[in-house]
Amino acid sequence: ALTRRYTFNVTMATVTRLCVTKSIPTVNGRFPGPKIVVREGDRLVVQVHNSINNNVTFHWHGVRQLRSGWADGPSYITQCPIRPGQSYAYDFRIVGQRGTLWWHAHFSWLRATLYGPLVILPPRGVPYPFPKPHREVPLMLGEWFNADPEAVIMQALRTGGGPNVSDAYTFNGLPGPTYNCSGAGDTFRLRVTPGRTYMLRLVNAALNDELFFAVANHTLTVVQADANYVKPFAATTLVISPGQTMDVLLTAAAAAPSAPAFAVAVAPYTNTVGTFDNTTAVAVVEYAPQPAAAARGLPLPALPLYNDTAAVANFSARFRSLASAAYPARVPRAVDRRFFFTVGLGADPCPSPVNGTCQGPNGTRFRATVNNVSFTMPRTSLLQAHYQRRYGGVLAANFPAAPLMKFNYTGTPPNNTFVTHGTRVVPLSFNTTVEVVLQDTSILGAESHPLHLHGYDFFVVGTGFGNYDANNDTAKYNLVDPVQRNTVSVPTAGWVAIRFVADNPGVWIMHCHLDVHLSWGLAMAWLVNDGSLPNQKLPPPPSDIPRC
Ligand code: C2O
Repeated sequence: ALTRRYTFNVTMATVTRLCVTKSIPTVNGRFPGPKIVVREGDRLVVQVHNSINNNVTFHWHGVRQLRSGWADGPSYITQCPIRPGQSYAYDFRIVGQRGTLWWHAHFSWLRATLYGPLVILPPRGVPYPFPKPHREVPLMLGEWFNADPEAVIMQALRTGGGPNVSDAYTFNGLPGPTYNCSGAGDTFRLRVTPGRTYMLRLVNAALNDELFFAVANHTLTVVQADANYVKPFAATTLVISPGQTMDVLLTAAAAAPSAPAFAVAVAPYTNTVGTFDNTTAVAVVEYAPQPAAAARGLPLPALPLYNDTAAVANFSARFRSLASAAYPARVPRAVDRRFFFTVGLGADPCPSPVNGTCQGPNGTRFRATVNNVSFTMPRTSLLQAHYQRRYGGVLAANFPAAPLMKFNYTGTPPNNTFVTHGTRVVPLSFNTTVEVVLQDTSILGAESHPLHLHGYDFFVVGTGFGNYDANNDTAKYNLVDPVQRNTVSVPTAGWVAIRFVADNPGVWIMHCHLDVHLSWGLAMAWLVNDGSLPNQKLPPPPSDIPRC
C-alpha cells in the first residue's frame, strides 16, 4: 500500500456555461475538480488550502473512514469549517473498498461546483470480477446554476419557500446541446472503438435531482454500486440518486454502426411539489474512426416519464450483492436495536424560529424532518464535543426511535406538518447491529429521499410501497444477497429497511442527499461509542483540525 498525496487549493476561477461567465469556487481552478486515484489499502492525504471568501470542508463520499472520523468532512459534524486562509490535511486509509466514490464540499451548497471522482482500484494484481474494460471513464452528472448557488439557498432560507431550480444538468460539467447558448465545446463526448467495452464510472453529483440515464441504442451492464460489486445485470435506463455511484459497462457495437454517434441522455425523476427543472441534457457516444458528429438533433433514447415511480422501483429491485466466495455479503441476521424513522417535509408556522417571510405552503416555512425532528446544525463540531465528552449545549442524546406524531404515512396527505427542532443524536454502543426502517411520509405530497449514511455501508434488506408493516414485511427481507450501499432512496410513498453494524466509533450524520432537504433539516446523527479494545477507539484529533 502506498501513501497518495494531493493538494487542493480552493480558489475562485472564471467559468462560462450557457453564455454566463462567472467566478465560481473550484479546486485548483478546475470544474469539475480533479480525479483522485488510489488503490484499496492505500493511505490518502489531501492537503486543503482555503483561498475563497467562504468556509469550506471536504467529504470523501462513501469512504468508510474506519477510526478516521476526523477526516470525514461534514461541517459542524466531524469538524469545524476550514475558514478563509486556513488549511487542513485530510488523512485516512481506504480499507476494504474498491470502485467509484467521489468527493465534494460539505458546507452549505458549495458542492454545486466543488466535486470530483474518487477512484479506488483493487489492490495490485487483484482483477475485477468482470472482464477488464478497454477504458474507464468517470462521468459525473451535475447541475449548473447561472446564479450563485449560495445565494439560491440563502434566499430560500430567508423567504421560507422553495429554492430556484438549476439551469442545466451537466456531464462532467458540460450541459450539452439541448440548452440555449451551448457552444461547440459544451458537449461531453465519449469516443469509442467498435467492439470495445468501456466502463462508465457514474456519479450523481446533482444538488437536488434524482436522474434517469440512458444511451441511445446501447444496453448497459451494471457491475457496481457505491463501490460495492453487484451481480451484473443489463439495463437500458438507469436511475441514480444524488450521492450514489454506479459502474456500468458499455460495449460498442462490433461493426461500426451506420449512425456515427448516439445521444446519452439525462432527465430528472421527481415528485417534487412545485417547480423542477424537467429538461433533458445530452452527451455523445461517437464511433471512431468517423469524424466528430454533430451533437444537436441526435435521436434521444426513450426515458421514463419524470414521475414514473414504478420504473424506479423496478430498477432498484434489481440490485443484488455479488455475494461470492471472494466477495461475501456479511448480512447481519440478528438485530440488537430497531428504529423506525419517518422522513419527509414539514413546515414551521409563521412567525417561525427564523426571522423572514413565510413563502412555504399556506404561509408557512418549509422544513424537513426525521421523526418530526428538524436537525439544527450545531455551532461547534459534534465529534469534537464527543471526544471531549462535553455534550451540554451542543447535542442531546435523545433522538426519538419512532416518530413524535404518528399518522397514516402514505395515504391522502394528512394535515401533519409537525416539526420540532434540535441537535439530537442516537447513542450506540460499539458493535451494535442496527436496523432502520425509513418510511416516506406524504405530509406535503409523497416524494423520494436519497438517504446517505456517513461512516458505513449498509445492507438494503427490504423495501415496499405504502406503510411499513412490521408483522408481514420483515418476513420478506432478503438476508442472502441484499445490495450494500451508502445512499438509498426511500421510495415515494414507501419504505426501505437497512442494516449495519456500528463498528466505527465517531459521530456519523445520516441525511437526505437532496441539498435543499438537508438545508431544511432532513438529517440526524449516530453517536457510536468506542469499544473496549485499543483498535476500537477513535484516535485523538489531528493537530491541524480547524477550530470554530
Ligand atoms: Cu455526499 Cu453528507 O454527503
